[in-house]
Parts: sequence; C-alpha cells; structure tokens
Amino acid sequence: MKILKLLANLGYGSRKQVMAMFRDGAVTDAQGEVMYADDEFDPTMTLLVDGEPMDPAPGFAIMLNKPIGYTCSTKDVGKLVYDLLPPRFKHRSPNLSTVGRLDKDTSGMLLMTDDGQLLHRIVSPKNHLPKIYQVTLDRPLNGNEAAVFASGTLVLESETEALKPAKLEIIDDTHAELTLWEGRYHQVRRMFAAVGNHVTALHRTKTGGLELGDLADGQWRFLDEVDLTTLFEAPDAI
Ligand code: URA
Repeated sequence: MKILKLLANLGYGSRKQVMAMFRDGAVTDAQGEVMYADDEFDPTMTLLVDGEPMDPAPGFAIMLNKPIGYTCSTKDVGKLVYDLLPPRFKHRSPNLSTVGRLDKDTSGMLLMTDDGQLLHRIVSPKNHLPKIYQVTLDRPLNGNEAAVFASGTLVLESETEALKPAKLEIIDDTHAELTLWEGRYHQVRRMFAAVGNHVTALHRTKTGGLELGDLADGQWRFLDEVDLTTLFEAPDAI
C-alpha cells in the first residue's frame, strides 16, 4: 500500500490533506529523510509524522481508563470515549470500536480495537474471559449475595435465562469485587438490584488476565503482544 493511502486510512486527513503533509515534508523516516506520497509502505520501517511516530497500522488495540460521564458511542450528544483519544482515531478505516461497553456512570478498563477477529475472540463466550468490577453499594451487604450470585440460578428482571455463576468477594459492608464470565445489559447494577441493593459506584479493573494497573483516569495506552497474551491467560469460570 502507498504511504499516502495508509495515512489517509489512519485518519491523518483526506487524501488531499495528506498530500499537502507530504509536500510540507512532514512525513519522514526515522533518520529524518523525507518520504514521498507514492512510496510503498514497508511495515519494518519507522515512519514519523511531524516528528512523532506514525500511529499503528490496522490491527491494533488500546486500553483506556474510562472516566465516569463518558459514553461508549461514536455519536451520543454528551462526552464520548473517543474525545479522550487523538481526534484522528475517530476517522480510521477500519474503525476503532469499543470491545463491549461500559455504562456512562461506570469507570475503568475499556478495551478498543480495529481488529474484528480480536474483538470477537475477547467477547466470545467460548473464551470465558472474566471481567472484574469493584462495586460500591448504597446499603450494607446482607451476607447471602455471594451464594446467590454463585448459584447459576439468578434470573434478572425481564429475562428468562439464569445468569452464569459469578464470584463475589466481600471487602467490607458496602464494598465488594465481582467477577463475571458474561456481559448482559447493566448486569452488575441489575444483579445488586435483584438482591435488594443499589450500586453507587462501579469500576472495572480487569479483563481476562489483563489489569488496568496504574493507568490514570482518562489515560490510555497501546496494547502490545505481551498484553494480548496476558489478556487471554485467565482463570476459568467457577
Ligand atoms: N455492569 C453494569 O451494570 N454496568 C457496566 O457498565 C458494566 C457491567
């Protein structure tokens, strides 16, 4: 593929705008040698755009620490998770999608990728990747929630199929860590509503074996090969 087409696909601008960047000498190799629009892209070489490393070619993934108040959508009226990323990420082809969703009022680990196969592998029930949430509750836990959630018999309101067993570790009266091996609409909030409680704060810390770590609120980073291996190394369902 020509570098011109690649840069346009990576959201750096329209073909015309990218053409102008080449004319300005904004695209160089690692030694600062100017590249030309019809040079072929060589994946082994480092390209710089305005002196910064070019974004990854298609087939990449990132992890974002989603703050409260942001929506996992490309066109909601309020603040979008895409607003926390370089603006060009919104214009990449193939598209950068969220891997599942977090509610507007939920914070924590959100994975995003433009790789449809990777996305499918992460969300596929066959891979049993757990998701771990820190939950803050309005009322003290009554002590039977862990057994109810682990039973595999809890049916949420307006559903007919029981939830898969989930693991609840109680931290104190109003704080717990919940591990889920599935993802239904507003699942954590609805599970606690089903046992007479109310979630006041919800934060995802882990997907599969991959932890959010010390990524600050609103910050993101690229995932590398080691991260992706870690992601798929996870304890199996209970
Ligand atoms: N469960 C919820 O209720 N909300 C989320 O955002 C994720 C899981």
